[in-house]
Amino acid sequence: MAKHDKSPVGISTILNPVPVVMVSSAGKDPGTRPNIMTVAWAGTVNSEPPMVSVSIRKSRYSHKLISETGEFVINLVSKSLCKPCDYCGVRSGADEDKFAKCGLTPVKAEGLEYAYAIKEAPVSISCKVKSVTELGSHDMFIGEIVAVTADSYLLDDKGRLCLDNAKLVAYNHGEYFLLGEKLGFFGYSVASADVLKKRMGNK
Ligand SMILES: Cc1cc2nc3c(=O)[nH]c(=O)nc-3n(C[C@H](O)[C@H](O)[C@H](O)COP(=O)(O)O)c2cc1C
Repeated sequence: MAKHDKSPVGISTILNPVPVVMVSSAGKDPGTRPNIMTVAWAGTVNSEPPMVSVSIRKSRYSHKLISETGEFVINLVSKSLCKPCDYCGVRSGADEDKFAKCGLTPVKAEGLEYAYAIKEAPVSISCKVKSVTELGSHDMFIGEIVAVTADSYLLDDKGRLCLDNAKLVAYNHGEYFLLGEKLGFFGYSVASADVLKKRMGNK
C-alpha cells in the first residue's frame, strides 16, 4: 500500500471552491427597503423539483426578511459584481441600503410576491422557502426554484443559455476568482472524437 503523505490541517469548512452569490430579499411591508447579503454556503440540493440551499446565521438582517416572507433570490456574481458582492458581505442591511450604496437596481423578482432581484446580475434565481433546518451556527433554508431569469446577452440565437459568457466568480478559501480555462464538459471523458472537437475545438 502507498505511504500516506498528507498532513492534518485542522477540521474546518474546507470544501472548495464554492459558489459565492448575492442573496436578495425584502420585507412584507412595501416600506421595507430590499436587501442583499453575500452567501458562500449555498448549493444545489435537488433536481426535480429544482431546489437550492442557503445557510444563513440568525444574526443576519436577511435571515429576518427571508423568514418573514418565505422568499429569496440567488443572484449569480459576474466579474463586475465582485466588489459589490464583497461589500454586501461586510455591511448589514439593518444599517444601510446596500442596493443604493453599491449602485445596484432592485427589480421585482419573477414568480415571487415580495423579494427583489438585482438587475445587474447575469442570472437571478427566484426561490420559495420549503424548510428551515437549524444546524448550529447557521440555519439552512431549502428553497424551491420557481423562476430563473437571465440577461439577454447570455442567450444564443436559439435561446439557449450560454453561462460561460457570464464571467462568473467562484470563492476559494477566502478569495474570489474569475472562472477561467474550460477543461472539459459533462461526459467528455467518454465522448467521441467528433463531439470533443465540436465542443472543445483543438484543446
Ligand atoms: C464571501 C462571503 C461569504 C459569506 N457567506 C455567508 C454565508 O454563507 N452565510 C452567512 O450567514 N453569512 C455569510 N457572509 C456574511 C454576510 O454576508 C454578512 O454578515 C452580511 O453583512 C449580512 O448582511 P445582512 O445583515 O444585510 O443580511 C459572507 C460574507 C462574505 C464576504
